[in-house]
Amino acid sequence: MTTTKVWRMADEHAEESIAEAAELLRRGELVAFPTETVYGLGADARSSEAVAGIFQAKGRPSDNPLIVHIANISQLDELVLPYSTLAKQLMGQLWPGPLTLVLPVQPGAVSPLVTAGLSTVGVRMPSHPVALRLLAAAGCPVAAPSANRSGRPSPTLAEHVAEDLSGRISGIVDGGATGIGLESTVIELTGEQALRILRPGGVTVEQLREAAPQAEIDAPADAASAAEELAAPRSPGMKYTHYAPKGELSIVQGSSAAERIAYMQEQVAQAANAGLKAGVLVFDEQAAAMQGGSAFVLTYGSGQQLEQAAHRLYAALRQFDAEGVQRIWAEGCEPDGIGAALMNRLLKAAGHRTHQV
Ligand code: TXA
Ligand code: MG
Repeated sequence: MTTTKVWRMADEHAEESIAEAAELLRRGELVAFPTETVYGLGADARSSEAVAGIFQAKGRPSDNPLIVHIANISQLDELVLPYSTLAKQLMGQLWPGPLTLVLPVQPGAVSPLVTAGLSTVGVRMPSHPVALRLLAAAGCPVAAPSANRSGRPSPTLAEHVAEDLSGRISGIVDGGATGIGLESTVIELTGEQALRILRPGGVTVEQLREAAPQAEIDAPADAASAAEELAAPRSPGMKYTHYAPKGELSIVQGSSAAERIAYMQEQVAQAANAGLKAGVLVFDEQAAAMQGGSAFVLTYGSGQQLEQAAHRLYAALRQFDAEGVQRIWAEGCEPDGIGAALMNRLLKAAGHRTHQV
């Protein structure tokens, strides 16, 4: 057991705290920190010993590579081989921000554990001010997966990190709730003017199109890509069970709200009859209809504001666990904008269990 120190960015010692956390990173220790997507579990990407600690603390399979975080574009010179103008254009438009670019790695630049033996490395420059300050103070490339135990929902609060990793890591920089609430978009460059989305995330397809209007974008539709991933995962992390709450989660889809409600009410009643604790995750528009039954009801916010739903998803999944909910029905959404990432995570959390009404 390690004692896990928590530094609160809200207090007046924030600057000293960042310096202390950065020093621990430089010494090869594990420090969790907020980003604009989710909390990351950081370690010096150059040190195999430090990076091995990440896999151990998370219980993460070693064939799943890590994203390297930088504070300054000049750090790329030592990390990756020369990259295309399209990559430059995307960095120029969308960094700092929730976009991870998979680029050819400079041999020897990071521990082989970071890349899981691949010849590429995922790199991103986060936009969270605390992350940027910490990365700049550490001065080294920082490998950081989401700071959850493997398979659990990613942490959007420092408390979630503590829940999963307290006693396993040296410290947690507490910067409050993360903004977007879902992980970065991971892309690979498949040609001079072509890219493929390996994992939908905080940067939407629409934003990629705007940043690089000339580029051809391969954005696999969710259901199809999910099936493909099972057969031949391109982004190694996509093949594992992910983001799952302890209760059995099913997604409810269908254009009629009345039918979705009727289906969930019926399922909740059946679960109650079987002595199971039921929960539902619905948009505000359907909340009133679900309240008053036996289900534990959580809401995404309005169906008109998918950003809010993205922000709340992981916390809601953790809350079902805290309440001991055994069966969960969650409304799905259209895969537009951030909805693409939201549906991707929901499908994984549900092990693709979907009911169409
Ligand atoms: O928003 C995020 O990206 C967060 C924060 C902390 O930055 N990090 C994150 O890391 O989500 P993680 O480890 O949970 O997910 C990394 C994803 C995995 O799906 C992994 O397979 C993929 O990125 N990935 C990393 N390196 C890759 C590579 N060289 N080629 C293909 N996929 C890669
Ligand atoms: Mg993760």
